[in-house]
Amino acid sequence: MKKTSLTGVKPTGVPHLGNYLGAIRPALRLAEHHHGRYFIADYHAVTTERDPAALRAAIYDVAATWLACGLDPASTLLYRQSDVPEVFELAWVLSCVVATGQLERGHAYKDALGRGEAPNAGIFFYPVLMAADILLFDTHVVPVGQDQKQHLELTRDMAVRLNHHYGEGTVVVPEALITEAPLVPGFDGQKMSKSRGNGFSIFLGEKELRKQVMKFVTGSETLEEPKAAQGTVWDLYQLVAGPEEQEALKAKLAAGNYGWGHAKQDLFVALDRELKPLRERYAALRPDEAGLDRVLASGAERARVIARATMGRVRAAIGIAGR
Ligand code: TRP
Repeated sequence: MKKTSLTGVKPTGVPHLGNYLGAIRPALRLAEHHHGRYFIADYHAVTTERDPAALRAAIYDVAATWLACGLDPASTLLYRQSDVPEVFELAWVLSCVVATGQLERGHAYKDALGRGEAPNAGIFFYPVLMAADILLFDTHVVPVGQDQKQHLELTRDMAVRLNHHYGEGTVVVPEALITEAPLVPGFDGQKMSKSRGNGFSIFLGEKELRKQVMKFVTGSETLEEPKAAQGTVWDLYQLVAGPEEQEALKAKLAAGNYGWGHAKQDLFVALDRELKPLRERYAALRPDEAGLDRVLASGAERARVIARATMGRVRAAIGIAGR
């Protein structure tokens, strides 16, 4: 039986190369042999986003991004969380099986307190809404980064508790698929991240992309010296070049008379080959918001068929309706 993979993406703008190579591309590969359900977690964003225009734009950015990166909306459901009201209904049920102490130990909530902020209740409740996103769709695997591991543990715990109280099979207990690797380095060799500002958007034009690639730190060997295949340029090259190309680069580095500047040029060529079709599709998709709305509406309609079935099962199990 084909399993279901589901993940949610908070609308926070256009992704950098690390988001693409570390999360989007692996999730899309997973969807090739799973029932993929990939949604825009727009109500999660409301915990922190206070600018309606920015939120609206970011939602279209995410939708156009995933389509441009190759999501096929015919086989993989793409929808907005806010279009599936059953999510919020299930979140309430789950809030009644989770202990407040578990939510008090949530990383995001604790971190906000640690920074001396007064976090809103949405931040406290965040893991419950996320659990509802997942459990509503009979999800088997959830591809997420290490930072979401605790949320997945909480989700599993809520699922187990619900099943324990109301009967096995009420909801599917999901597995986290921690997309640990690949670690995508930024200019400085640290993990590429938005907050560190050590990366670049995947939709940059060719010229700008080349400029960015030249910024990666490298070893300081002379041109003549033979070089070991290691460091940021090599790490990135392995993510975008085929096995034979990798062997060829290794050989050129080892032979000497081939500098890191040359290696960056080879990296640029491989990166541009990967990103060019994405960039072109994004440029065509993003301005057509009505077209994106149609894709999302169709995704939501199909998502709600699944959501209603799960919610019907849950309602019957807990004694709200049906038997
Ligand atoms: N919390 C996730 C993040 O910040 C986004 C998210 C919301 C999510 N609901 C989800 C991820 C359900 C996986 C499954 O990245």
